[in-house]
Amino acid sequence: MQVAVIGAGYVGLTTAACVAELGHTVTCVDVDISKIAMLDEGNVPIRETGLDALIDRNRASGRLQFTTDVAKAAARAEAVLIAVGTPRGAGGDADLTHVKAVAREIARAIRPKTVVTIKSTVAVGTARLIREVIAERRRGLDFWITSNPEFLREGSAVRDFFEPDRIVIGADDPEPAARLTELYRPLIDQGVPLVVTSTVNAELIKYTANAFLALKVGFINDVADLCEEAEADINAVVKGVGLDRRIGPQFLSPGPGFGGSCFPKDTEAFAAAGRKFSCPQPLIETLVTRNQTRKHQMAKRILAELHGLSHARVAVLGVAFKADTDDVRDSAALTIIPILKAAGVSVRAFDPWARANASRIVKDVAWHDDPYAACSGVDLVAILTEWEMFRTLDLSLLARHMRGSTIFDCRNLMDPHHVASQGFRYVSLGRPAVPRVAPATAAKPAGERVHLPTLRGAAVARRPVR
Ligand code: NAD
Ligand code: UGA
Repeated sequence: MQVAVIGAGYVGLTTAACVAELGHTVTCVDVDISKIAMLDEGNVPIRETGLDALIDRNRASGRLQFTTDVAKAAARAEAVLIAVGTPRGAGGDADLTHVKAVAREIARAIRPKTVVTIKSTVAVGTARLIREVIAERRRGLDFWITSNPEFLREGSAVRDFFEPDRIVIGADDPEPAARLTELYRPLIDQGVPLVVTSTVNAELIKYTANAFLALKVGFINDVADLCEEAEADINAVVKGVGLDRRIGPQFLSPGPGFGGSCFPKDTEAFAAAGRKFSCPQPLIETLVTRNQTRKHQMAKRILAELHGLSHARVAVLGVAFKADTDDVRDSAALTIIPILKAAGVSVRAFDPWARANASRIVKDVAWHDDPYAACSGVDLVAILTEWEMFRTLDLSLLARHMRGSTIFDCRNLMDPHHVASQGFRYVSLGRPAVPRVAPATAAKPAGERVHLPTLRGAAVARRPVR
């Protein structure tokens, strides 16, 4: 099948490469000239495991090409997949500017019987709206609008494409549903469940799925707080709860507040849909504000650990909104770092992939190429992203580099007993504090020791600051 994918971002580029791998001929389009130039030169603008190899292979076979010419790509396509961004709009609703712009552009170009599919996450009713936008410009043209929401996660996008839990096709006629089913035929033949439904159902499935997953994360974050107060252990609670097959163990890891380009904006959009349809969604409204305050709460707790120390230094390890991505959109780090800076803390930072994206947004941060260099001379290390490499940090090396001895782990990556036994004050989420054995700096050669009475004198187990 001849396919045009409009938008070469995390979803569009992954979809284009994967659909080509399924055997279709794909033209991937973006208005961003530099992105297309990069792709044409064989470079991939985003970090996504397995994507580079997939793009290389399919470009070489001639099944995948890139262009900035939307109309040309649409003119030869049997299916046009729209995967442009839908950022937070006014009032929380998804901003459909890019989707509408694409609709206007392809309206002039598409042939009769083209299936236009919205993969972007869009407000309920958008498929119908886009049908009107195109129909107004091409009166009498026989074409279809469908909705095919995307459920991939950044970091595992390629795997999620080939091994999805389900494929959802929203179509208000049987013919376009059959065309899209053919697009995904190899996956469906392998047993991937297919849900064929109306366009409006498909749009709501996408928002409901994201809102539900975000609720799980938001809820477990609050349970972690309760664990700290009750001296319970979130790991034990999650294990006992997650074994209930109706709940499941996934998306129950406490963190600094969910981020990314989707949960924050999609929960806001879900709440906005409730208001628009006069059917308020108080659970999601609360989740949205609670998640924002959680990020502030984390910053406050980090500051409290510094006990008003003047000229305090903090190392932030991890600025991506989660591990295995270079994406920093709505990342907790983007809220926490400015609060630390505003309080007069000097911030050093390390992230294996996301430095370039973050450094365009957060200013006055000293960036380092390895975690130990970032921790040099700091009073506190704040782990904000669950990069695997942070789990296995060499604690004796860390102790030698740090001035203070506090690790604030917002991802529960380390074993509290082990860290405390190395002389650190270790703060994690929802787990009982473990008294440290001796100051971490005890292992330092005498010449490297720094005397910091305020930090060293801090009580080991204190109630968290909310
Ligand atoms: P992105 O910002 O990474 O990419 C969007 C791309 O669209 C950009 O490269 C931009 O230049 C391009 N674009 C904008 N207007 C265009 C136009 N008129 N013509 C051609 N290209 C245009 O966005 P993304 O993260 O890939 O998300 C895309 C959509 O998919 C959003 O609606 C998002 O909510 C949804 N989604 C994202 C994910 C994810 O993990 N990122 C997962 C599922 C769904
Ligand atoms: C999420 C969904 O998981 C995808 O199914 C969906 O397609 C996508 O949004 C989207 O619509 O764009 P993604 O944003 O890539 O995917 O990331 P997730 O893995 O869902 O994580 C989102 C945020 O929640 C991250 O900040 C992550 O650290 C946080 N999280 C997740 C936790 O704090 N705890 C968890 O247990 C899980």
